[in-house]
Amino acid sequence: MRLTFTIQRYNPEIDVHPHFEEYRLEVGRGLTVLEALIRIKNEQDGSLSLRYSCRSAICGSCAMEINGSEKLACRTSVRKELERHGRIVVAPLRNLPVIKDLVVDMSSFWGKIRAVTPWLLAEPSAGGDRPPGPMTLMPQSYEFHNVDACIMCGACVAACTVHEVSKEFLGPAALAKADRFLADPREPETSKRFRLKELEKDHGIWDCTRCNFCVQVCPKDVKPMEAIVRLRRAAIQRGLTATGGARHILGFADLIERQGRLNEAIMPLKVVGFDWKRLLSVIPLGIKMLLKGKVPNPLGHSIEGIEYVRSLFAAARRRVKPT
Ligand code: SF4
Ligand code: SF4
Ligand code: FES
Repeated sequence: MRLTFTIQRYNPEIDVHPHFEEYRLEVGRGLTVLEALIRIKNEQDGSLSLRYSCRSAICGSCAMEINGSEKLACRTSVRKELERHGRIVVAPLRNLPVIKDLVVDMSSFWGKIRAVTPWLLAEPSAGGDRPPGPMTLMPQSYEFHNVDACIMCGACVAACTVHEVSKEFLGPAALAKADRFLADPREPETSKRFRLKELEKDHGIWDCTRCNFCVQVCPKDVKPMEAIVRLRRAAIQRGLTATGGARHILGFADLIERQGRLNEAIMPLKVVGFDWKRLLSVIPLGIKMLLKGKVPNPLGHSIEGIEYVRSLFAAARRRVKPT
């Protein structure tokens, strides 16, 4: 079968903008997109640049956008892509600077991995010293929730809706890595608290909008969003509740427990507290919501059946054990 592959090309030394080029290739059964790209490079256009190594979904270097979604080229079947999309369009990972063609600059990705201190911390400020206690990690003593399966391909970061608008966001891969170290029983509690205090700062755990794209595209089922939720929970359980994000969650839960519903008239107070400067900044939004009938009575009654809602909260409290 003869197929057309549409590939984004960009050489910053000669091109003003990226553009697409088409290549026709005779393909047999069982071909992966990576194998097709290597053949195009070897047989038709040696100037095509791409990055790969293991060809077995291990090294993470061949992540790219295939038919609009982030995938590993080495484990993406040409036939399945064709059946699903009727075409094969290949582009570099989104939201990362392109070095050439399908090769992106991963330095910001690695910088963020380093920023979450991906090693065991002995003392909050010591950095590299060995933590006290035995270093052997027994299988029954930890639960890493599969975050240690990450192959650092960058697909989640390219798909992340927050990273798209805020390049400072630590991002799903780095935060999943942080979760792996938080779960490590060899690290002392003081270090875990220090770690969480760093992660709750701007561009950290509270910036994620829980869009779930990182979970959808991850080729190793790492589920970075769930790792971020675990980090948030761990921060709240350790009393780190001064951030807007933590206050939003606690305020939300408090309102549901007391009234059985969200009360938008009270939420700003819950989130920003009695910080008059910040409260003034949300007044224009409040007025708009009021005019559209979106602000309920702040003294509104609880919903019918509120006792049942409260019993759910009580049951949840009995079940939750601090990590
Ligand atoms: S869930 Fe959070 S980290 Fe994952 S892609 Fe969405 S915003 Fe990014
Ligand atoms: S979390 Fe998944 S998508 Fe993100 S870098 Fe790791 S393996 Fe790739
Ligand atoms: S070439 Fe290593 S993951 Fe694809």
